Amino acid sequence: MGMLEQKVVVVTGGAQGIGLSAVERFAEEGAIVSFWDFNSDKGAESESLLKAKGHDVRFQQVNVTDMDSVKAAVKALVEETGKIDVLVNNAGITRDASLLKMTEEQWQQVLDVNLGGVFHCTQAVVPVMVEQNSGCIINTSSVVGLYGNFGQTNYVATKSGVIGMTKVWARELGRKGIRVNAVAPGFIATEMVDTVPEKVIEKMVAQTPLARLGKPEDIANAYIFLSSDLSSFISGTVLSVDGGLVI
Ligand code: CAA
Ligand code: NAI
Repeated sequence: MGMLEQKVVVVTGGAQGIGLSAVERFAEEGAIVSFWDFNSDKGAESESLLKAKGHDVRFQQVNVTDMDSVKAAVKALVEETGKIDVLVNNAGITRDASLLKMTEEQWQQVLDVNLGGVFHCTQAVVPVMVEQNSGCIINTSSVVGLYGNFGQTNYVATKSGVIGMTKVWARELGRKGIRVNAVAPGFIATEMVDTVPEKVIEKMVAQTPLARLGKPEDIANAYIFLSSDLSSFISGTVLSVDGGLVI
């Protein structure tokens, strides 16, 4: 018996990386998982792989920056399952540049996905959770949202921003039976860190007490914990999953 048997879970940015690992972990715990991503090729490929393993997953192409696209996905899922128990706002992008080199476009793209996307998905899903008088929302922040990072003015603004949104929503939605938490991953081995210069990665690992990069499953397991009854009195918190990088 899984910890999330028959729970309906939405994972954004689920086509690859941390999101994909989370989709699989939720399915292993017995959840019915809908994963949203704008990369339809990767999404369809991941859906086939997970279905072949016998998991109850479905991929929906969604661009989280587009409210109409998000609303259509919520409608389709509720028509199919009648509820949404968990929303994991995991989709995110980087467009790194030092302050003086950052373009307006790089600034705006990151804000649109990492803040706008979280706002859209949460605003579209919460009415369903309010109706149920229950639900869990998890926002993916980052270690850099807590301590900053060279070359990430835009990204850090968003990752600090989602911590603020988490606290607001925990206050607003607690009385509706909805818990809202954030996870702050350290550096995790996914495509996102492939662009980071080797020197920077080595420095990060050297500063990490557990002396390694994180794995996608490390974050997926934190999502599972914050979605399950094991965390039933936890709301408004930021769970660092970073090998001790920020102490
Ligand atoms: N710390 C200190 N100095 C740094 C530095 C750092 N992390 N990165 C670059 N510098 C220095 C360079 O050594 C260079 O110094 P000199 O001028 O003395 O030679 C100077 O800054 C270069 O500045 P530029 O503006 O010319 O930088 P650039 O155009 O070469 O590139 C950068 C800057 C885009 C930030 C590049 O260094 C980079 O990509 N850094 C990695 C950023 C990073 O860590 N991103 C994390 C992505 S993963 C992620 O975001 C997931 C998550 O949540 C953790
Ligand atoms: P990734 O780049 O491997 O995957 C991100 C996924 O989000 C991709 O499948 C992408 O297509 C999707 N996506 C991007 N924009 C979208 C949009 N507009 N609509 C729908 N989907 C969209 O990244 P990774 O590493 O798996 O990151 C997942 C989350 O974890 C992100 O929020 C990231 O900021 C955060 N994070 C990652 C860390 C890392 O070191 N990898 C560290 C800290 C936080």
